[in-house]
Amino acid sequence: MVIKSDFLVIGSGVAGLSFALKAAEKGHVTIVTKGEMNECNTKYAQGGICCVTYPPDTFDKHIQDTLVAGAGKCDLPAVELVVRRAPELIKDLIRWGTRFDKTPEGKYSLHREGGHSEHRILHHKDLTGAEIERALVSKVKRHRNIDILEHHFAVDLLTQHHLGQEVNKRTEGIECYGAYVFDEKREQVVTILSKVTVLATGGVGNIYHTTTNPHVATGDGIAMVHRAKGAVKNMQYIQFHPTALYNPNERPAFLITEAMRGFGGILRLHTGEEFMHKYHPMGSLAPRDVVARSMDHEMKIHGCEYLYLDITHKPAEEIIAEYPNIYEKCLSIGIDITKDMIPVAPAAHYCCGGVEVDLNGESTISRLYALGETSCTGLHGANRLASNSLIEAAVYADQAATHAINRLESLTYCEGIPEWNDDGTTATEEMVLIIQNYKEMQQIMSYYVGIVRSNIRLERALRRLEIIYKETEELYMKSRLNKDLCELRNLIEVGYLIIKQAQAMTESVGLHYSIDYPMKGVDTEN
Ligand code: FAD
Ligand code: SIN
Repeated sequence: MVIKSDFLVIGSGVAGLSFALKAAEKGHVTIVTKGEMNECNTKYAQGGICCVTYPPDTFDKHIQDTLVAGAGKCDLPAVELVVRRAPELIKDLIRWGTRFDKTPEGKYSLHREGGHSEHRILHHKDLTGAEIERALVSKVKRHRNIDILEHHFAVDLLTQHHLGQEVNKRTEGIECYGAYVFDEKREQVVTILSKVTVLATGGVGNIYHTTTNPHVATGDGIAMVHRAKGAVKNMQYIQFHPTALYNPNERPAFLITEAMRGFGGILRLHTGEEFMHKYHPMGSLAPRDVVARSMDHEMKIHGCEYLYLDITHKPAEEIIAEYPNIYEKCLSIGIDITKDMIPVAPAAHYCCGGVEVDLNGESTISRLYALGETSCTGLHGANRLASNSLIEAAVYADQAATHAINRLESLTYCEGIPEWNDDGTTATEEMVLIIQNYKEMQQIMSYYVGIVRSNIRLERALRRLEIIYKETEELYMKSRLNKDLCELRNLIEVGYLIIKQAQAMTESVGLHYSIDYPMKGVDTEN
């Protein structure tokens, strides 16, 4: 089966949906998404979305905070672009129906999180992402120029390779003509031809054993681009959120927003002792990489699996009013956060690297844009400033839509792409092989390529991942398409990129910390 659409958007989080709404004003949009439409990282975002709103905050302060968190590795034009365009894009979100909290005086209520010098985070209680996603989904569903295909899994990008042409050199002269997409319910592969393709497939959290990301975050877009010979960068910078609720068998790990530390929450040891001031003058509100690493260190030296976040000194009614979702969640497992300290541990949270894009969101593959967490715009450098990602997705979706619309008339559909051929394959009966390799991959990445790394750990991880890679490729080649197998294959590819790009580092910086390259002032040699 073949579908033609001016714009093919892969992914239905804030990045994909914001792009779709703008592109649909000029052409037909098809959105494919691998699960239910609203299952995505966006839905789980708690803290909020950054935007300079009132004095004394300024663009310069937001730029400076982003650069400091990014540990000298941000691209200044990307930082300037996102910070300066944020207010316009917030207006779009509001116009589409997003409700941000206001104070009794009618001004926007602004939160503060780690690394921020000002209160600048717009939010909807502690459910900001769910509110943004609700508004976007409702708008997209009513748009006559947008078709939505749920339970459709993008498998691979279509390029000259599928016309039988050799694409040997990475990043040169490659064009994207759409994607092969697996319709899970009908168990068939659809060829979607597009003039413009947008990857908005989100993060990679499931590469680690403990993550705040939902199950759909399996790095599919990044793996697809790497297979299509596009550029992927900064994958060594994986952000671990310091405060996921410690509740061992829960997947994904439930997040305790950093805004709670902005509100006065203090990280403590089991003894009740505050420890973050030993590591950073901002204490519990230090940039996220510093907090996660310091917690990891304290957990190792005290031999414990979690530490505590303490908010009990704040008035109970304020806690419940500001953080109703977290209050209810903790209560459901017997923790009353107005009286009890919250057990927390770091969890894989955000991928600062991804598909390399320019200021228009275009990748090194022509006609292919990458937006949101799948992309690497240069905004985050070596460590993302909290709440900078939703706004990055909105700004780059707008940049990309404007750029893509302007070139639409000059583009045509590619002829001659063959339909998917699965001759000689059979249905996978060995689910156990997929499940076991998935677990092993998570263990390798968690133990050897986590918050603290070393050259030996990385080498060992690569050797072990190669075995799983070979087994999985063999299974893939002989199996009829299967989403679980495709996701495993993509995660292994992403794991490979993280390890290789970490091995290329000769310093510890931001989220890449190796004991072979000590970092000034942070003693975390475990
Ligand atoms: P997503 O929202 O993850 O959407 C990806 C979409 O792609 C999904 O619909 C998925 O199903 C689909 N998809 C993936 N692969 C395929 C495929 N092969 N085929 C078809 N569809 C596919 N950021 C902030 O700025 N502020 C916050 O407060 C904040 N809090 C967070 C809290 C949590 C718990 C988490 C997990 C993240 C948080 N973040 C926050 C980060 C932020 O939510 C994400 O970076 C952002 O939402 C990513 O948006 P996106 O559109 O790029 O991807
Ligand atoms: C949080 O609310 O702590 C998450 C914010 C983010 O990841 O940007």
